[in-house]
Amino acid sequence: LKFTRALLIKDHKRVHTASDSSLLLDSADIGSRTWIKTGFGAPARAAVCVFAGASLLAIGWMYRLLFCPLELLRTPDDVGYIAEKGRSRAQAANEVRRRRKTGELPPVYPNGWYRVLDSHMLDRGEVKNVSALGEQVAVFRDQDGKSYVVDSYCPHLGANLAVGGRVVGNCIECPFHGWQFQGSDGKCVKIPYAEKVPEFAKVRRWPSCEVNGQILIWFHCDGKDPEWMVPEQQEITKGEWVYRGRTEHFINAHIEEIPENAADIAHLAHLHTPGFLSGVDLRYTNNKTWTFLQHDWKVQWQPESEPNKHCSQMLVKHALTVFGWHVPLLDVHVVARQVGPGVVFLLFNHNFLGRGVIMHCVTPVEPLLQCVSHTIFYQSNIPALVPKFILRVECIQFERDVMIWNNKKYISQPLLVKEDSAILKHRRWFSQFYSENSPRLQYQRDTLDF
Ligand code: FES
Ligand SMILES: [Fe+2]
Repeated sequence: LKFTRALLIKDHKRVHTASDSSLLLDSADIGSRTWIKTGFGAPARAAVCVFAGASLLAIGWMYRLLFCPLELLRTPDDVGYIAEKGRSRAQAANEVRRRRKTGELPPVYPNGWYRVLDSHMLDRGEVKNVSALGEQVAVFRDQDGKSYVVDSYCPHLGANLAVGGRVVGNCIECPFHGWQFQGSDGKCVKIPYAEKVPEFAKVRRWPSCEVNGQILIWFHCDGKDPEWMVPEQQEITKGEWVYRGRTEHFINAHIEEIPENAADIAHLAHLHTPGFLSGVDLRYTNNKTWTFLQHDWKVQWQPESEPNKHCSQMLVKHALTVFGWHVPLLDVHVVARQVGPGVVFLLFNHNFLGRGVIMHCVTPVEPLLQCVSHTIFYQSNIPALVPKFILRVECIQFERDVMIWNNKKYISQPLLVKEDSAILKHRRWFSQFYSENSPRLQYQRDTLDF
């Protein structure tokens, strides 16, 4: 109270006419004397500053929590490795990669659509380099907003078009000698110092599409055109569902291991039952402290029939129990629809929590390195905290799988029981994305260090 009064006295004096400088001096003087008189001199001022600073930080933190999208980007060694004493996680990750037995792997790059960027990550006139399917691709957007994907390396002398390259009209201009390549077909349209542009001057163009706020490329080992399209989620296009965040992980495993999780019904009860408070480190997820919170999963997996045989569906019924009591409010039913090898739509529809989608995308970076992103779009009138919480919980459960995938071996002929039968069904379904010429892993040991 004394402190507030001191401030009030100071302010009150300032209201008087500003032309009277002596009065101002007086008032300042009275103010400081009041501070001193009340016994709150420099320490009090310091406390006010600290309090104001802390309040600003808290407001900023609250603002981000309530209104900004969640962005959780993990580096390749962030999750899923156990570092022994005195060693870093990066060392542990490299060690695991070197020692790993890969097993008899299926081909490493299935035919299909793969996400390269979220739309909001690429502005007009911008170009970005992305590593995908063992290649480097340049993704750029022209001034009309259309996005294109071409090989990053210029066919002239190999400069990277995405590193210093410039978007000119609907072309990408190489930073080295200024050749310009059209995004629509990769054709070279200008060589600044040559009289004529040869017909064969071309950079490889990737079939691409931009849908649901994402840019995707089509890969087929024989160069065939797309055999299906990524379905449009109307609510996103119309703006009824808005972007609420994304996560990104790099996983050391064969791509097929990741979707196979959906058909591996038994692992849910074992790996994903401990509540989200139990964390992601599998050494501690069964720790007694957090057992009061548990998830319950009922799951079915099945492929779709023609003309959507490239799709499959996992129906999930999720329930949460606290001290053994079922909390009906958190009963969530999710339809996870997989479209091809690289894209899954996890559709939420809840009476109270609203509707939305998490797009789970797997893009092979290298034969045994997958970039997995989860991007959430949610009903715009539901507070952002709800979808952010859903994404965070999903991410915790997902990171438990990451620890398994990063350290496991692919077993081509697994030892299964009757209850595991959906796994074999899934392998049969997934094999449609391989063809005779699909690339296989050549070297059992690759040497990339993080
Ligand atoms: S390397 Fe691209 S123009 Fe020469
Ligand atoms: Fe899982």
